[in-house]
Amino acid sequence: MLNFHKGPFHASINSEESWSKGLRPYLEYRELGMVKATKGQVQAHAIRAIKPCEGPLGYHYHDLEFQMNYLLRGSTRVEFEGVGEIEFNAHDSWYQKPGIRHEVLHYSDDMMVIEINVPAEFPTIDVDRKTGAESVYG
Ligand SMILES: [Fe+2]
Repeated sequence: MLNFHKGPFHASINSEESWSKGLRPYLEYRELGMVKATKGQVQAHAIRAIKPCEGPLGYHYHDLEFQMNYLLRGSTRVEFEGVGEIEFNAHDSWYQKPGIRHEVLHYSDDMMVIEINVPAEFPTIDVDRKTGAESVYG
């Protein structure tokens, strides 16, 4: 049995004020309260596009224990190491194996996704496709 912190009931009511800047400048993020409820063990947030996609957004990976995505709205095309390109549309989802290198190739202007991460804070590492050189992004 996983030993998650069991915080009190929490409801997250949507409002424009609940969206904020985050890792990527072309996206906005809405943290859904799981960070506090689990004392940082889980992050669940909604992510939406706020600027048109300007092409491939960088090859990278995340150093974490668990990550999944559920596309609420729009579409996105992502390349995954060892898998290839996948086009996702509204209500598609994917388990993003920890450490898998990937790159968002495109997203629609109305793209919105829910992402769940364990733990809540983790490094993102950019990878140079040619040299393999890594640099911590955030
Ligand atoms: Fe990513």
